[in-house]
Amino acid sequence: MGIRCLLYVSESCLAWPDDAHEVDDIVTNARARNEQLGVTGALIYTRTHFAQVLEGETAAIDAVMTSIRADARHRNLCVVADEALATRHFPDWTMAYSGPSFYVDRQIRPLLTDATDPARRRRAGAVLLAFIREFAADSKRESG
Ligand SMILES: Cc1cc2nc3c(=O)[nH]c(=O)nc-3n(C[C@H](O)[C@H](O)[C@H](O)COP(=O)(O)O)c2cc1C
Repeated sequence: MGIRCLLYVSESCLAWPDDAHEVDDIVTNARARNEQLGVTGALIYTRTHFAQVLEGETAAIDAVMTSIRADARHRNLCVVADEALATRHFPDWTMAYSGPSFYVDRQIRPLLTDATDPARRRRAGAVLLAFIREFAADSKRESG
C-alpha cells in the first residue's frame, strides 16, 4: 500500500508563553498514537502558528487528521500539500519536534489564505517542507 504525505498550516489558539507546555503534551500524545498507526512526521510551532507534516497510509492519516482538525488548540487549518510519496522524509520520527521556532512564521503566513496564487503557494509549501526537514535533521543531531 502506498504512503501519503500531508502538509498543513494552522493558527495557534494557545497563549504564549503561558500555554507553551501544551505543545509538549501534543507531541507526547502524538508520538504514542502515531507509533501505533505507523505515522511519521514533524511539527513546527512558531508561537502564533503550527505547521505539520504527516506521512503514512491513507487510513492512518485520515484518522490522525480527524483528531487534529477537531483540536481546539488551533484553528483555520489549511492543507498545503497532500500527495503520494515513494519514500518517507521522516522515517525515524513518530513526530519530530525541537521546540518553538519563530522564524518559520514567514513561510507559514502566505499559506493561510486562499488569496495567494497557486504557483506561489506551491513554492512556499516546498520551502516550508525543506525547513521542516532541516529542523528534523537538527534535532536528530542534538539527541545524538
Ligand atoms: C498542532 C497539533 C498537532 C497534532 N498532531 C497530532 C499527531 O501527529 N498525531 C495525533 O495522534 N494527534 C495529534 N494532535 C491531536 C491531539 O494530540 C489529540 O488530542 C489526540 O490525537 C487525541 O485525539 P482524540 O481526541 O481524537 O482522541 C495534534 C493536535 C494539534 C493541535
